[in-house]
Amino acid sequence: MTLPTICVVDDHEELRNSLVEMLELADYQVTAYASAESALPRLLETWPGIIISDIRMPNMDGFAFLTALQERDVDLPVILITGHGDIQMALGAIRSGAYDFIEKPFRREHLLEVVKRALDKRQLVMENRQLKAAIAAQDHEAIIGQSSSITALKQKITRLAQADVNTLICGETGTGKELAARRLHEQSDRHAGPFVAINCAALPESMMEAELFGHEAGAFTDAKKARTGKFEYAHQGTIFLDEVESIPLALAVKILRVLQERKVERLGANHSIDVDIRVIAATKADLKAMVEEGKFREDLYYRLNVVELHLPPLRQRDDDILLLFRYFTTQASDKFNLPVPELSLHVIDTLMQHPWPGNVRELINVAERFVLTDTLIDQHTLANWQSEAGHSNLPERMERYEKRLIEEALSQAQGSIKRTYEGLGIARKTLYDKLAKYNLDRHRFLDD
Ligand SMILES: Nc1ncnc2c1ncn2[C@@H]1O[C@H](COP(=O)(O)OP(=O)(O)OP(=O)(O)O)[C@@H](O)[C@H]1O
Ligand SMILES: [Mg+2]
Repeated sequence: MTLPTICVVDDHEELRNSLVEMLELADYQVTAYASAESALPRLLETWPGIIISDIRMPNMDGFAFLTALQERDVDLPVILITGHGDIQMALGAIRSGAYDFIEKPFRREHLLEVVKRALDKRQLVMENRQLKAAIAAQDHEAIIGQSSSITALKQKITRLAQADVNTLICGETGTGKELAARRLHEQSDRHAGPFVAINCAALPESMMEAELFGHEAGAFTDAKKARTGKFEYAHQGTIFLDEVESIPLALAVKILRVLQERKVERLGANHSIDVDIRVIAATKADLKAMVEEGKFREDLYYRLNVVELHLPPLRQRDDDILLLFRYFTTQASDKFNLPVPELSLHVIDTLMQHPWPGNVRELINVAERFVLTDTLIDQHTLANWQSEAGHSNLPERMERYEKRLIEEALSQAQGSIKRTYEGLGIARKTLYDKLAKYNLDRHRFLDD
């Protein structure tokens, strides 16, 4: 850890030195300047420390210095030094927005107390800024999750992004297949190129063909103007074939040819165009089984499925449910400018018991409703949820519940064992036993 930093500005050498000495003895890291002009250029907005400055100085005085600093960073604590008994000046300092003032000659304890408060405040401000920056920098498209399956998935995506091979993404509805496809594209060398998504189930066969391949003017009755197809659009980028199981068999042959030859021919054209594309396909279906039943072309299946990414359903990754819920309630609270209602134990229990057939998409809806209405679900849905949750027996549910409570407590205590067992009102040994039983690693909850 870096030492807390204090910048001292005083034109009076003796005073300056004694101040520096006092602060250094108290273990602070101090830089000192004889004038505000020399200090200013060093104090950027991101400077993490606090300022102690004399008021009476030739050229730029303490007030002018304070104003200049505040223009850069209103939250920077500035402590001004006033002459003994100079009430007017002290009041002026506070009015001008100084954090506090100290009187000459300094009383050591008072000085250190003011300094400590100011530094604490500064640290808080800096932490908040970092947090905000981290949230802002976090791209909207991040895959959230801490379960081992999602962690592994993220690593696999990073590796596969570079590989530039056709990829098949499988998973139930709402598990994040499209999100994963976008991540693959964004992390690849093609990221500057287009990401073109097409839903193979959304269009009738005839329109789908024109959509994918484009056509020349006059290619068919309605084709007044020439049109670029999605394959061409995706040149030097990625094409995402969503719900690929719905591709009509007749079209599958033509798509296969594009994948093999990397060329497309517009409908009605007599020449082909080279396309440099990566194909990512997504499916909710068991394509392999469809191949066996003759419902999906085997050759296309093997072309698409050079590598496969499997997105596990939410109910198989308990560890992510509350994390995602917190993430999306925070987002919703930003969006609707409403506070996040308190996550009661009942709410947590309900979330953990629910099997989430709509996966993350369903969870996002529930999170938004929770922020908007402070209820998780309406009575009708609740009844459904409860009957669905009826599968597991009481001891299983209790254990799930207990594990979840411990995780919550660990998270709130940021991984501190002591604060966790105190918070839960259990003995230290009990906590350790339970951590072992549920295979929980407190390090996961440490603040980093
Ligand atoms: N791990 C995750 N982290 C953050 N957001 C996620 C995650 N998984 C899914 N989402 C979000 O959930 C929503 C649904 O995801 P997406 O559209 O990628 O699912 P899908 O598998 O394509 O669903 P469908 O099969 O119904 O088309 C999107 O808003 C997506 O951003
Ligand atoms: Mg989708």
